[in-house]
Amino acid sequence: MDLLRGRALDAVEEMDRPDCDAGRLERTYAQFGVVNRAVSGWQGIYRRELRPLLSAAGTTTLLDIGCGGGDVPLLLSRWAARDGLRLEITAVDPDRRAAAFAARRPPRAGVSFRRQSTRDLLAAGARFDVVVSNHVLHHLAPGEFTAFLADSAELATMRVIHNDLRRSPAAYALFWAAALPFTGSFIRRDGLTSIRRSYTEAELAAAAPPGWTVERRSPFRNLLVWEKPCPAS
Ligand SMILES: C[S@@+](CC[C@H](N)C(=O)[O-])C[C@H]1O[C@@H](n2cnc3c(N)ncnc32)[C@H](O)[C@@H]1O
Repeated sequence: MDLLRGRALDAVEEMDRPDCDAGRLERTYAQFGVVNRAVSGWQGIYRRELRPLLSAAGTTTLLDIGCGGGDVPLLLSRWAARDGLRLEITAVDPDRRAAAFAARRPPRAGVSFRRQSTRDLLAAGARFDVVVSNHVLHHLAPGEFTAFLADSAELATMRVIHNDLRRSPAAYALFWAAALPFTGSFIRRDGLTSIRRSYTEAELAAAAPPGWTVERRSPFRNLLVWEKPCPAS
C-alpha cells in the first residue's frame, strides 16, 4: 500500500487541532479506554516489565506522559492494587482539554492527573522510578522526538517504556474495519492517521539515540525502552 510506504508526517490528527469539535474530542478521550484495552497490550507490559519492579514494602513512582483521557494510569493502578503492590502514579498531559477530561474522573488514591509538560516536571526537579507513554511517539515531529526521549530518560531513575503503534498494511486494514463502530468521535479517523504517522520497527530503531532499544510486540506495536545504565564497578 503506497499510503503506508513512509511515515505520513504531514497528516494531522483531528484531536491535535486546537479548534476541533469539543464534543467529539471528549468522546475520543472516553473511547480511548476501550481501544487501549483492546490493542495497547498494557496487561502484558505490566506483567513482564512493570510488576517485577514493584513491591509491597516500598512505593514505586511512575510517570505517564501524554496521558490523554487517563485510562492507562488507572488500569496500572488497579492491577498493582490487585497484586498488593504499592504504586504512585503521576499522569500528565500538556493539552488543557486532555488534562481537564482526566481531572474530572472519579479520584483514585495513588493516581494524580496534572496539566504539565516534561519541561515543567524537569524544571520542578521531579523524578520517577519509571516513565511510560502510550501512543505519544507518533504525534511528535522529528525535533520534538529527540527532546521527548531526552526528557523522559532524565525524569526516570530506572526505566522508560514508550509504547506505540507499529505501521503496517495489516494494522491499517484491521483498524479500518474494527473501528467502524466508533462513531461520534475521532477514534477511527485519528486512529488511521496515527497508523500512517507511526514508525516501523526499523524506522524507530534508526531514529532512536544510543541507549534506547526497540522491542517488537504483537500485534502491531513497538516498545521503545531505556534502562538507566548500571554504574561501573
Ligand atoms: C493519542 S493521545 C494518547 C493519549 C493516551 N496516552 C492514551 O493512550 O489514551 C496522544 C496524547 O499525547 C499528548 N502529547 C502530544 N505531544 C506531547 C508531548 N510533547 N509531551 C507530552 N504529551 C504530548 C497529546 O496531548 C495527547 O493527549
